[in-house]
This record gives sequence, structure tokens and C-alpha cells, in this order.
Amino acid sequence: MPTKLLYFSKAYQQTATAKVIQVLRDGPQTGIILDQTLFYPQGGGQPADQGSIIAELGNLAVSHVSYNGGEVLHKGKLVGEVKEGETVTLEVFWPLRYQHMQQHTAGHIVDQAVKNVLPESKSIDGNHGISKRMYIEFSTEVSAVAVSKIQTAVNEIVESAVPITSEMVSYEELVRRQIKLPFDLPKNKELRIVQIGKYPAMPDGGTQLSGTGESWPITIVGVDLKESSWRVIYSLTAPGKTAQLEVPEPEKTKEKAEKATLSLSKLRERIADLKAQLSFEQTTGEERKTKYLGKKGYFNELAQVMKNLEAADRKEAGQLLNDVKTYLEKQLQRHLQEQAQNQVAAWVDLSIPGVKPVVGHMHPVSQAMEEITQIFERIGFTRVRYPEVDWDHYVFEALNMPPNHPARDEWETFFVEAPIDKKLGKVVLTTHTSNGQVHEMERLNSTPPIRMVNIGRCYRRQQDATHTQMFHQFEGLVVDKGINIQHLKGTLDYFAQEFYGPGTKSRIRPFHFQFTEPSFEVDFSCHICGGTGVLNPEGNHPAKAYWSKNSNEKQPEAETKCKFCKSGWHEVGGAGMVHPNVLKAGGIDPEVYTGFAFGWGIERTYTLKPGLNIDDIRLIYGGDLRFLEQF
Ligand code: FA5
Repeated sequence: MPTKLLYFSKAYQQTATAKVIQVLRDGPQTGIILDQTLFYPQGGGQPADQGSIIAELGNLAVSHVSYNGGEVLHKGKLVGEVKEGETVTLEVFWPLRYQHMQQHTAGHIVDQAVKNVLPESKSIDGNHGISKRMYIEFSTEVSAVAVSKIQTAVNEIVESAVPITSEMVSYEELVRRQIKLPFDLPKNKELRIVQIGKYPAMPDGGTQLSGTGESWPITIVGVDLKESSWRVIYSLTAPGKTAQLEVPEPEKTKEKAEKATLSLSKLRERIADLKAQLSFEQTTGEERKTKYLGKKGYFNELAQVMKNLEAADRKEAGQLLNDVKTYLEKQLQRHLQEQAQNQVAAWVDLSIPGVKPVVGHMHPVSQAMEEITQIFERIGFTRVRYPEVDWDHYVFEALNMPPNHPARDEWETFFVEAPIDKKLGKVVLTTHTSNGQVHEMERLNSTPPIRMVNIGRCYRRQQDATHTQMFHQFEGLVVDKGINIQHLKGTLDYFAQEFYGPGTKSRIRPFHFQFTEPSFEVDFSCHICGGTGVLNPEGNHPAKAYWSKNSNEKQPEAETKCKFCKSGWHEVGGAGMVHPNVLKAGGIDPEVYTGFAFGWGIERTYTLKPGLNIDDIRLIYGGDLRFLEQF
């Protein structure tokens, strides 16, 4: 079933939901096919999108997207699990997509500008960022002398700030409107056309800006003469950057050298693509043989590149081709063997002693996340996830921290170098899971009741025994009519007992957060000294059980300060009643609804578990198996 291409009509949409049609796994890579997608598959000169596909129990970090006979394949690294048939959330990494839109639209503007200056010109190809140089290729001559005129024409189109529109039309309609086709296109299905202002429409499958006025400044770098075509090379200046002009080398020798490298690099690219494709191949051995090694197969087609190369490069290309042939043959042989093994029932000698496989287990932080999720699900909370790379709006501004507010300093933030969005601001690595609060209100169309637990990764510029630069938090948010502090305290007590064991108490102390009013710091009673802050040598104290079971150290003889907590309590996070401004930012009327929220560090919460006594949280991420195997 062909994938519905949502980006055709909604180039500015960054998230959507979709149904998983197929999950293809091979080695470290996973491929997902969906019923519809926002992700742009590489093609038409535009590079593929990146982003996340978020399932209930897993997350695919999409690193490449390709289009194959109507189906869009999203490839990348999967953490957790994605099930066929389930509904997933798609999140396009917007700064990159927006850059691709700028690059693509710039190509169309350059194309039109050349046609304005040289009305007879005919464009045949374009590259909007797949390789380093962006260009529009013409089959008619574009003289280098025309460059300054083309630049002026480009500037005029940008300054005229005309809208860019798209629509789907039939082939007959295309002919009726006399729209020129640069190459053959299928006649039996609708085609998408794009139109800049009143200039002639052209077929296009890419994502475009909504108007030329939004374009970053475009520079015509020069004209590069190929064998029988002319490439008009352009570059863009992103906001806050200086243009990287790529001036073509004038001397003939250099041009030749570049042509050869281009072909060689193209060959390398194709080989890398082939290897990726093979890992997803689902054909039988015979089919593979014909497809890749047959007379008209992939390998012979690839070998054609030799013709375009300079003599000096043939040796290297020959070596690459030899290697790829050996690779294909070995792959085929392995595949045929596997196929045969699957067909023939294997003889098994049951008397041979087996090899005991090493049994791994989940990382302690993942274990804690599972446990925390289950504890909250038991009282009706829903587990959600929100982006760890997010807009300033969700991390700060919607949480009652306008730009330049001093409260922001407490969150030592990493900023991502990316274009600033007019409404949502800068892109940041989220400093806390509180960014999920307004996302969740929006997801539920500002309609309480809300009971979410958002678990995610957070980043801050901090590093010591109790802080790491990357850590995890879990965030609780409850919004409904009549919610008050007693509900918050009850929830905290419930969590304390479930996670740390019966008898554990919670305590809230006045504090300040911009997004809650009143705000609290939350403590849990220490399980070693029973919340007293001292160890009692008499033995009728919770400390007794701990010392006898968990420590080789000698039990203290006189009453002494509990060295685990020092005060009887451990601080684990913050909480409070949701500030009216935050409810308003999420579209909820604070006169009708109230809510509470809390947020804790998972590493810290986990290291305080009875019996663990880990005093440096950096050990969790040290990657030392001797440490991790203990949990
Ligand atoms: C917050 O992050 C607030 N968003 C919590 C909150 C949520 C308050 C909802 C009110 C309502 P704070 O900066 O104190 O607050 O961090 C909360 C917890 O995250 C800390 O107590 C600690 O357990 C953990 N934490 C913070 N920074 C780090 C770090 N660098 N490494 C490990 N854990 C950290």
C-alpha cells in the first residue's frame, strides 16, 4: 500500500500520528513503513528528513528516509520496540527540515531567475543539498557573464515576496495548462505542481517555503560548464552566518580533477547505499542473484561509471568495484546457505553439552523507569514522552519564564545551533521534563482531566558526584477541577511507599519555581536511620536490619549521625501547584481548573533505594560492567 505523503500539502507540519504497516529489522538498523508520513524521503535533489518515530514502548531515531515504489522506508536505530499495527507519533527534526526547504525553494528561485534573464533556457536537473554544491543544471548555455544579471533577478524575486503554492493535478490538466515537463513523468496518476507567484508552475515533489519573502539570502556562486550542460551554482546565508561561497576553479585541469572526484565519490555513495539496501532485502537467493549480479543487474550498471572517469582514477574505481563484487558474492553465498539451512531439518546431537548464553539485563536506569511507570499507571497516570530537543517556548517561556528572566539561570542550558523560530524561539536540549506540561495540555486539546507521567532525558552543564550532564527525570502532572495540595501530598506518600518500601514518608518544604505556586522541595525519609538522622546502637531501629544485611562495616557502638543522609531526609525533586500562567499557556482556564506537578531525577531517586547506597551517580554511566552487573 503506498504511503500517504502528508508533507505534500503540509510542509510546515512537524508532528503527526501514523499507523505502523511493517517493521523490518537487520543488525543495528530498523526500517519502518507507515500508512502516512511527514518525513521527506531523499529525492528530487532534496535530502531526507531526520527525526523520531515514537511508539508506546520504543523510539526510532530516523537517520535516513527513502522512497521505493510508493512506500516510504524510515531507517534508523531503534530503542525499545515498535509493533506492527500500533499508532505512533512522528516528529520531524525541524531545524534540518527547514534548512532543506530553504535550499529547495532557493533552487526554484534560481531556476526562475535564469529563465527571466535567458527566456530560452531549459533546466534539466537540480541539487538542493544532497551533495555539497547546490545547483540548477541547464541543457542550454548559461554564460558566466550572465551571473550578475541572474543575481539581480534572484534578488527581485525574493524582494517581491510572492506566495509559493502547490496543488495536485491530472496529466491532462498539466497539458491543458501548458506546463512544461523537464523529463518523462507517469501519465496515469495525479502530479504535484508548485508555483512561485505568477511564474509558470512546474512539477515538484519537494517541500517548499510558503513565500519567497521567507527565503534566506541567495548568492549565485558561478556557472560550471559540464560536458554538455551548464550548472548555475548557488549558496545560502543562514541567519547569523556568513555565506560560504564555493567559487568554481577556473583552470581546466582543476575542473577535470573535480569531475573525476565527483564520479568517484558518487560511486562510493552508491556502494554505501547498496550495502544499506542489502540489509533490508527480502528477496530469495535466485532473485538476488539476478538483481545484483545478473547481466542487467546492479553491479554491471555500477561498472558503467568507469566510462566517465579520468585514467588516473580508474585504478581506484576498479578496486572499489572489485571489492563490491566480492562483497555481493559473499553476501549471496551466505544468504543461500542460510536459506538451505532453514529448509533442511538440521540434525541435532542432544548429547553435546550446551553453551550457556550470557544473560544480560536492563540498565539500572531503565529498570527504575519501568518501575516508576508501573507505580504511576496503577493510580491512573498515562506514560508519555516529549522531545529532549525542544523549543525554548516549552522549556521556559510557557512555564512562566519569559526571555531574560533571571530564573532561567538555574537551568544551565545547552543551546542547539539552529534557526530561531519566530513563535517558539531557540532550540535547546531540554533541561527538565517540565517541558512536557504544556505539550500534554496541547495534546489533550486543553481539556482536563490530565494525569501524565513524562519520563525523559535532560541535559545541564553540570558534573559532580550528584550531577551528570545527561540525566533522566520523571514529571507528574495532574489537572482537573478541585485539585489541591492534599492530592499532591497523597501522591508523594503513595510513591514513597511503593518505591522505597512501607513506612517511608514524604515531606514537602517551601521553595520557589516559576511554574508552580506554591512550590516545594520534596524529601523522602532515610531508610537507614528511619528518618531520625542518627543511628541507634540499641538495635530496635531500622538501622539494625541494614547493618546486619547490607554492610560489612561494624555496627556503630554509640549513637552517631547517619552518614547516608545526615539529616534523616533525602531531597529528590521539586513540586507545586501549577501556576495559572502555565495553565493559560496550555489553553486551560485557571478559574475552573487547578493542578499539581512534580519532577524528580531518576538517577538520584534510584541510588537512594534501600541497600544500594551509591554515593556517586557518575558510576551509573561509567560503562563499567562490573558495576552494572550488580543490579
Ligand atoms: C526541576 O527540574 C523542576 N522542573 C522540578 C519540578 C517539576 C518542580 C514540576 C515543580 C513542578 P530541579 O532543578 O530541582 O527542578 O531538578 C529536580 C531534580 O532533578 C533534582 O532534585 C535532582 O534529583 C535531579 N537533577 C537535577 N539536575 C541534575 C543533574 N545534573 N544530574 C542528575 N540529576 C539532576
